[in-house]
Amino acid sequence: MQKILVVDDSPMNRELLDEILKDDYQVVTAEDGMCALWLMEQEIEEIAAVISDLVMPRMDGYALVEEMRCRGWLGKVPVLIISSENAVEAENHCFELGVTDFIHKPFVGSVVKNRVKNTIELFVCKNALEQKVKEQAVTLEEQRQIIRRQTEKLKEMKSFNRLMMEFRSVIMEVETRLKVLNAEFSEAYNRNPFEAIKSRLKSPESIYEKLERRGFPVTVESIRENLTDVAGLRVICSFPDDIYRLADLLIQQDDILLKSRKDYIKNPKTNGYRSLHLILSVPIYLPGGKKYMNVEVQFRTIAMDFWASLEHKLKYKKKVADTGEIEEQLKKCADSIEDLDYQMQKIRDKIEHGQDSL
Ligand code: GTP
Ligand code: MG
Repeated sequence: MQKILVVDDSPMNRELLDEILKDDYQVVTAEDGMCALWLMEQEIEEIAAVISDLVMPRMDGYALVEEMRCRGWLGKVPVLIISSENAVEAENHCFELGVTDFIHKPFVGSVVKNRVKNTIELFVCKNALEQKVKEQAVTLEEQRQIIRRQTEKLKEMKSFNRLMMEFRSVIMEVETRLKVLNAEFSEAYNRNPFEAIKSRLKSPESIYEKLERRGFPVTVESIRENLTDVAGLRVICSFPDDIYRLADLLIQQDDILLKSRKDYIKNPKTNGYRSLHLILSVPIYLPGGKKYMNVEVQFRTIAMDFWASLEHKLKYKKKVADTGEIEEQLKKCADSIEDLDYQMQKIRDKIEHGQDSL
């Protein structure tokens, strides 16, 4: 049987509450806050709830709750106040102090019973959840520590650092080829097919995490074989047709192998994401000979890039209140962006050739 502590200076009230609760709980009583504190000091772990009066000699209900708060007991044991105090301010003050429920005198036995039962059940659930969250935080921290240790090990390996150098080289290689195409294009057509190139090398932490998530071994060979996005480039174009022209020119180069092509412009993701993704195998020339390296190249328009950066932020901000509404707004923006991109392209064609391209 769970134990309930009833604190009231009136012997009649103590008896009444004992009568109401004794079938379901083991009831212990105290005649004021001081006695209640003394009892709690002995057996705080065993008490499932405290039911306390407000006005009592020596130590009243407010002081008792305040003292429990200071000792960190309010998180362990719920406090229900039973009082004839009818002022709303008094009731609010009790809730501000941290009590769980307030019952007015004169009380009805069955109501007290039900409210005590609900309060205890809720508290047990709350504590179990808090415990689970604590345990998960510990597990997460342990996993983070493992990742940190493993990536530190990776970073110390000569072969890993060499592989990273090779990925940096393939980024330079592809960047140069794109710049050459840009220069050639601007010679011929007097404009640039892309506005900017961004590049990034995947961090050792992300490499480790992705290999683990996909069930691949964490070795240098496995990174080379199983990951296609360690070297990444993003090419930001002004117009959609430049994306396809540029991508085709790159793929057509006779030493480049196209490993995969995902066209999220023609087939946008359900969230509205649009970009053209290529996984290429591109040679780099090292003192020891030619080596093919995987590289991911993403092509998008300026407007699609603007959209993707904002949408990316949403994924990492877990505290955003109405994710559903934002997702809907983002989807609408993505559709407007597509419309805008093609309208701009049409206008460009009219300006350049005096004709409609679509
Ligand atoms: P990853 O494990 O994330 O590489 O996914 P994947 O192997 O299925 O490849 P995919 O071609 O779908 O995506 C590759 C990269 O494109 C991602 O790592 C992101 O940088 C970007 N990307 C893909 N989908 C989205 C999206 O919905 N929103 C944003 N902002 N970026 C995306
Ligand atoms: Mg990726």
